[in-house]
Formats: sequence, C-alpha cells, structure tokens
Amino acid sequence: MSGSLFAPDDGPWAERLAAGTVLLHGWACADAERLLAAVDEVARRSPPRGMATPGGQAMSVTTTSCGDWGWVSDRRGYRYSAVDPDSGQPWPAMPAALRALARDAAEAAGFPGFDPDACLINCYLPGARMGLHQDKDERDFSAPIVSVSLGLPAVFLLGGSRRADPAAAMLLQHGDVLVWGGPDRMRFHGVKPVKPGEHPLLGGRRVNLTFRKAR
Ligand code: SIN
Ligand code: FE2
Repeated sequence: MSGSLFAPDDGPWAERLAAGTVLLHGWACADAERLLAAVDEVARRSPPRGMATPGGQAMSVTTTSCGDWGWVSDRRGYRYSAVDPDSGQPWPAMPAALRALARDAAEAAGFPGFDPDACLINCYLPGARMGLHQDKDERDFSAPIVSVSLGLPAVFLLGGSRRADPAAAMLLQHGDVLVWGGPDRMRFHGVKPVKPGEHPLLGGRRVNLTFRKAR
C-alpha cells in the first residue's frame, strides 16, 4: 500500500470550500513558534481583555489587536480604534512575521497583494465561543479575511451571506489558515464552544488571529 487516499500527511495542503473560501490545512504549523512569540510580545504591551457586546453581554473570548487599527467593542458599539483603550497608546505594530504569513496565505488562496492593517487576536479557553456574525466593521470589503488558528482545535461554523443560511461545521486545527473573500467576504461565521484539551505549544488554549484591511 502506498500513501494516504485522502491527503498528503506531510506539509500544508489547500482545500477550496467555495469560490472565495479556501482552507489551507497546516499552513502555519512550521512557523507556529515564531508566530506565538510575536503574539506574546503584542500581548505583553496590549494584554487580551474581556469585552462586552454593545448589548452589554460579556464575550467569552479575550481580545487584543496589533497593527494600525484594533477592534474594540463596548456599549458604544463595535468599531476599529487606533488606540488601545486600556493603555491609551497605539496598538503594538503588526509583527513582520504575522504580516508575511497573512500576505502569503491570502496569495495562496487567490488574493494576491493583501496588505492587512489590523490583526485581531482572540484567545479561547475551554467553553469560550463566538456567535454567528459577519465581519463588517471594515471600510474595505474588497480585501479578504485571513484567519489563523493555533492551539486547541475548534469547530468553526461557516454560513452564507444571510444569518438564516445553513452553516457548515468544520474542524479548525493548529496551523490551519482559513481565507474568505470576494463573493464570500460577507459570510456569517462563528465558533462552537472550545473543548478542554492540552496542546503541546499552547496548553489548554486556542488562539485565533484574524487579519483584516480595516481602512
Ligand atoms: C472571528 O470571527 O473573529 C474569530 C474566528 C475564529 O476564532 O476562528
Ligand atoms: Fe469574525
């Protein structure tokens, strides 16, 4: 017998899920330690914090950002801010390793020239989840969203452009990069509650990076 019937068992591979949606399996695995060091450096200056929805509900993830713009949510709404409201300082610059990963992944998914100005860092402990939503606080919908998953796996829900559209459930594992743009840019998406586990690099956590062109 030779090889796997399903997929190569070494190295990343691309799976096109729709015209504008590509799952790059294992794309970030080789770089994971470097990426996590960059994330830790960001988190040292702008620590992840719990935020509330505009309706006053506490979100179960903790969140920080790097880049020119950071995503914030509070009673005043969801928005991008040039300043970390906790520190009163600009967000940490986007580390070059993160920017390069996002650009290369976007290109591999068919979106060359992606130049993100915001990277949202969401941290999930077991039980943390994210309800179905669209990424629509950006000014420019012509750029894709590049989402990098690290640490514990999670079930990601990928819906359509209307909230009521059926959502496909897929497992996002450590190192997976999901890119959605073009006709799929406004897809609803969310994350089911993360199950407890132990990851060699991240312990009992999942970290998700989403790169966006905010302005
Ligand atoms: C998000 O939609 O901002 C996060 C997605 C994820 O954690 O996979
Ligand atoms: Fe999102």
